[in-house]
Amino acid sequence: MNSERIINWGILGCGKIAHYFATDLKHVPNANLYAVASRSLEKAKAFGNDYEVSTYYDTYEALSKDPNIDVIYIATPHVFHYENAIMCLNNKKAVLCEKPFAMNALQVKKMISTAKESKVFLMEALWTYFLPHYRYVLDYIQSKELGDIKTLKADFGFRAPFDSHGRVFNKKLGGGSLLDIGIYPLFAALSILGYPEEILAQATIGKTGVDEDCAMQLHYKNGVSASLFSTVTEETATEAIIELEKGTITINSQFHKPSSVTIVKEGKSKSECIEFGVTTNGYNFEAIHVQEMLLQNRTESTIMSFEKSLQLIELLDNVRNKIGLHYD
Ligand SMILES: NC(=O)c1ccc[n+]([C@@H]2O[C@H](COP(=O)([O-])OP(=O)(O)OC[C@H]3O[C@@H](n4cnc5c(N)ncnc54)[C@H](OP(=O)(O)O)[C@@H]3O)[C@@H](O)[C@H]2O)c1
Repeated sequence: MNSERIINWGILGCGKIAHYFATDLKHVPNANLYAVASRSLEKAKAFGNDYEVSTYYDTYEALSKDPNIDVIYIATPHVFHYENAIMCLNNKKAVLCEKPFAMNALQVKKMISTAKESKVFLMEALWTYFLPHYRYVLDYIQSKELGDIKTLKADFGFRAPFDSHGRVFNKKLGGGSLLDIGIYPLFAALSILGYPEEILAQATIGKTGVDEDCAMQLHYKNGVSASLFSTVTEETATEAIIELEKGTITINSQFHKPSSVTIVKEGKSKSECIEFGVTTNGYNFEAIHVQEMLLQNRTESTIMSFEKSLQLIELLDNVRNKIGLHYD
């Protein structure tokens, strides 16, 4: 395969995250934002103008049928990920789909089987997994320099202006803190500690019927545990703190995006803070990986695998059952 091949991207849904992604795509070698689609032609055109894209559509279907596109980035609210992804996969387009991959494990399984049948690439856009500081932490833990993990604490909280129609609070759009941001602390636990043996969870369900905050406690073998929290009603530290036998690793705020890492070793009075010098929003790293996978003709990521996405959605389903949150 020619590693100089230009990869033509399409963006489906021109909302907030789509702008961040399009900005970072400019920093991905051999990436070309070829076309965008919105439910409104005006919006698609304006988005296209912002990023020098001359092909724009007023239906997502038209984008999915464009023969010049190699891969489509899906940036719609969670409840639409499943139908959008299935449509793109059926039209033989590779897909990078925003988190959460879909609303439940059944949908994710169907997306994966459709990708396999269509023989096209599919990946959940869990961008944190590809960020340099996060890869560093995973490797450092693996080295066992600080011994085994005892506990993990991770949170994600911000105060979202209340809007019963917006996707954060609107149940019809898959609202709630868990699916929107609780997914990051849960992913930290999954990627650092694996799938837990026991899950406990409690939430505050607000007036729109979705969780405004969610506290989760995961238990693993040998007394290892993870305390996780998400909220859309207050700003919280949004850190991940890993206590090990011989020290502590803190992924500094905000841990899910490009950040720094502080390491305190037992017996040493000084901590060490490691910076990673990322100058983009951080979405370029997942996009670079997708392009590498496409050039290798892969249908599944070697990092954010189908198994990881399935485990993540199963964790989310499990927590939702515990807090009694059910979507239509
Ligand atoms: N990776 C990250 O860091 C990150 C950050 C934020 C969000 N996300 C994820 O990205 C997804 C989108 O989030 P966002 O913050 O970009 O949302 P947003 O600003 O509301 O944009 C979502 C877009 O989806 C399209 N859409 C299609 N049907 C819609 C409907 N019935 N109602 C509203 N929008 C509809 C709209 O695009 P058109 O009008 O152009 O069709 C809209 O602009 C979510 O799943 C979220 O979890 C990820």
